[in-house]
Amino acid sequence: MGSKKFKLAVLVSGQGTNLQALIDQMEQGVLTAEISIVISNVKEAFALERANNHGIKTVFLDPKSYPDKKAFDRALIDRLQAEAIDLICLAGFMRILGKPFINSFAGRIINIHPSLLPAFPGLHPQRQALDYGVKFSGCTVHFVDEKVDSGPIILQSVVPLYDSDDEETLSRRILEQEHLIYPRAVQLIVENRLDVTTRKVTQQKT
Ligand code: GRF
Repeated sequence: MGSKKFKLAVLVSGQGTNLQALIDQMEQGVLTAEISIVISNVKEAFALERANNHGIKTVFLDPKSYPDKKAFDRALIDRLQAEAIDLICLAGFMRILGKPFINSFAGRIINIHPSLLPAFPGLHPQRQALDYGVKFSGCTVHFVDEKVDSGPIILQSVVPLYDSDDEETLSRRILEQEHLIYPRAVQLIVENRLDVTTRKVTQQKT
């Protein structure tokens, strides 16, 4: 009897390069999970096409067809519960999830953010880093809690800023690191190797 596969849902709104990194690592057998569903709140998100190309089920949930944010979140919760998802990966999902959503999947939602949190949370973190004049930024994979970009940090990767950088070149350099650490963080969770004490995440030795 084969062991049960760890089931992921990936929530997207855009180009989906992080989704692609997860898919690639799965296809190479490095990430031992499967993506049960990819959900987007944006119809034309290229991420949906990427999922379709790999035979992964996709759903477009149109925020406009729900009376309010609460109803949209409810629909999202129902959809994910129906799939019996083990872990929800936010990958460029451009909506803030409400308390009922977070509580429904407590400790089972992660996000990737293109800065070294707690520096530069929120929108346009690469621009924030350039404007501030920091010499290093990077990316962070973290658990999602009720506040924006604030949950316990799982992995980070550091990226230098150069004088010649603009938002595009910096974003590209950070994305390369995102594609490395996001699958790695997911695999740590699949292997049940993380201990979370209040906000500190530590890795168990293999
Ligand atoms: C990434 O920079 C991620 O850190 C942020 O949104 C962007 C999504 O990019 N949350 P992609 O859609 O995965 O290419």
